[in-house]
Amino acid sequence: MVEARAQFLNAGHYNPLRNALTELWLQHGDRARFIVDVGAGIGFYISRVLQQFPQSLGLAIDLSKYAARRAAKAHSRLDVAVADVWGGLPLKDASADILLVVFAPRPTSELFRIIKGGGRLIVATPTDAHLRELQHSLGLLRIHPGKRVKTAEALSQYFVPSDHRSHEWSMELTRIEVEHVVRMGPSARHVDSALLAGNIGRLPTITNVTGSVDISVYTRPE
Ligand SMILES: C[S@@+](CC[C@H](N)C(=O)[O-])C[C@H]1O[C@@H](n2cnc3c(N)ncnc32)[C@H](O)[C@@H]1O
Repeated sequence: MVEARAQFLNAGHYNPLRNALTELWLQHGDRARFIVDVGAGIGFYISRVLQQFPQSLGLAIDLSKYAARRAAKAHSRLDVAVADVWGGLPLKDASADILLVVFAPRPTSELFRIIKGGGRLIVATPTDAHLRELQHSLGLLRIHPGKRVKTAEALSQYFVPSDHRSHEWSMELTRIEVEHVVRMGPSARHVDSALLAGNIGRLPTITNVTGSVDISVYTRPE
C-alpha cells in the first residue's frame, strides 16, 4: 500500500489537492509554528507545507512504520511518530498550532486536546464522486453520500467550522497508475487481486478519472 501510494503521489496526480491544501494553509496558518499531520502516510502533504513555511516544524503520525520511514525522509523539519491514533495522540495538551487530516482517521476528542485555542484543524475527505469512473468497473468501495454531513456534525461538537472548499480535478491514468490508486486506498483489502487485475486489463490504455475532495477548516475556540 505504501509503495503504491508513494508511486502514485510522486507521479503528481494529487498535486491539485496538495496545492489546494497549501493555499488554505497560507490563509489559515501562516504563523503556525508546530504542525501535526495525523495519519500522514508518506508525508506528502505536510512536507510541501513545511517547504512554504521555513519557521514551522512538523510531526507526521501514522500507524504504519513503513509509511513513517518514508515520511521521516520527506523533509528535514519533519519528525515522525508511529502510533495508533485511536489509542491517543502522543502529544501534550494544546501543543499544536495546526492539525492536518487527509483521508485518515479522525480521533475527534484527541484532536481537540492537542490543538491550541484558536488553532486550526484542516480535514480533507473524498466525496462520493472521487474516482467515480473506477467505482463501478473495478468494484471499489463507495463513499456514502451522507458522510460529509456526519463528519461535519462530529467535528462541530468540538470545533467551530471556519471554511469549506469542494475541490475537483481530472487525472489521465495509465493501467499501472489505476492499479496504484486502488492499491493505496481502502478498497485494496476488499477486492480480489485476480479479479482486479482482470478488470484493469479491460480498461483503455488511458482512463480519465475524477478526483473529488471536500476540504473543511475548523477552529478550536480560545
Ligand atoms: C488513505 S491513507 C492517507 C495517508 C495520507 N494522509 C495521504 O493522504 O497521503 C490513511 C493513512 O492513515 C493511517 N492510519 C490508518 N489507521 C490508523 C490509526 N489507527 N492510527 C494511525 N494511523 C492510521 C494509514 O497507515 C495510512 O497511512
